[in-house]
Amino acid sequence: MSEAEKFYALLEKLSNAFGVSGFEEEIREIVIKELEPYADEVTVDKFGNVIAVKKGSSNAPKVMWAAHMDEIGFLIRAIDDKGFLYIAPVGGWYSVVVAAQRLRIRLDSGEYIYGVVGMKPPHLLSPEEQKQAPKLDKLFVDIGARSRKEAEEMGVRIGLPADLDRELARLAGNRVTGKALDDRAGLAVMLWAFRSVEPRGTLYAVATVQEEVGLKGARVAAYKLNPDVAIALDVTTANDLPGVGPADQVARLGGGPAIKVADGRGMSGLISHPAVFRLLVDVAEKEGIPYQLEVLTGGTTDAAAISLTREGVPAGVISIPARYIHSPVEVIDLEDALNSARLLAKATESMTKEWYESIFK
Ligand code: CO
Ligand code: ZN
Repeated sequence: MSEAEKFYALLEKLSNAFGVSGFEEEIREIVIKELEPYADEVTVDKFGNVIAVKKGSSNAPKVMWAAHMDEIGFLIRAIDDKGFLYIAPVGGWYSVVVAAQRLRIRLDSGEYIYGVVGMKPPHLLSPEEQKQAPKLDKLFVDIGARSRKEAEEMGVRIGLPADLDRELARLAGNRVTGKALDDRAGLAVMLWAFRSVEPRGTLYAVATVQEEVGLKGARVAAYKLNPDVAIALDVTTANDLPGVGPADQVARLGGGPAIKVADGRGMSGLISHPAVFRLLVDVAEKEGIPYQLEVLTGGTTDAAAISLTREGVPAGVISIPARYIHSPVEVIDLEDALNSARLLAKATESMTKEWYESIFK
C-alpha cells in the first residue's frame, strides 16, 4: 500500500464515523485507539477532549496540537402527528446542501436509523418557489413512520443527534470526497504526524470536541494543559472553482498546506503569532514542502480559543485546503494532507528552547 492509500484508510474511518458536536462518543473511541500505540499516555478530560501525550527529552516548550473531532449536524427538535421530524442545525449549515439528503439519526440504544430530508417535487413548485432556497426551519425528515406513535416506537425522541449518511469515496488521482472532512482531514493529519514525531519538549495532541459550536473543547483543554505554543489543524476554503477569480480563491486544492496568517471577520478570529507563522514558513522552505499563505475573511479555528488562554499562547494553524466545506461533498487532496502532516511534525521538532526564548526577546 502506498502512503496515500494508508492515509486514505485512516481518513475513511474518521470521515464515516458519527460525531456531531456534543455527541462525539463514536469518533472518540476510534481516535483513542489510533493514538494509544504511539503515546506515553492517552486521557479523556471532563469535557470529552482526547489528550495524547508524548514526552520530550528536554525543557523545550510544551506544544499543543488541536484538531476537532466534532462535525456539524442536526438535533431532532419536533415530531409531528404524521411522524415527520423537524431539525435544528448544530453548526453552520446552508439549507440548499441539506435538502434532499439522507440523514443518519442516532438512537439512545446507539443504533442508527435513516431518514430523508423531503422536498416538494419540481412539478409542484411555483416559479416563485423555484427561485428561492428552501428554509432550514421548514425542512422535515421522513423516516418512513406513519404517525408520531410509530416514530416514538422506533426510538425517536426530541434531542437525538443526526449527521449526513455519506461515505468517503475517491475521485481522480489523490482527491477524495465525503462528509465531515472539516475536520476529520485535520484530525487524520494530526494522528498521522503523531505516529513518528519526535518533539523536543512535551507534546499534547488534543482531539477536541464542540469546535463547530464555539471552539469550546479547545478552550477548556488549553486551560488544563497550559501550553507554551499551539498549532491547530483544520481545513480552509479552497475556492478555486469555475467563475471564481484568483483574488477570491483563499487557497488552491493541491497547492500544499495553507499556513494561516489570520482569519475571521475583520480578522477577529486568530492573528497567527508572527514567530509561529515564520517558523512554519521557514520549515516548509527548508524541507521543500509546497505551501500557500492563507488569509480567511470568515470562520476561524481552535487556535483562536487557545491563543486567548491565561496570559496568551503563541499560536498558528496549518490548514488543509478543502472545497465545498460544510456540505456532504467536501473534497480534499490526499497529497495536501500528507504534506500538512510532514510540515506539522518537522515544525514541532524545530521548536527548541532557544527558538522559544528568542520569541520574547
Ligand atoms: Co467547520
Ligand atoms: Zn473545522
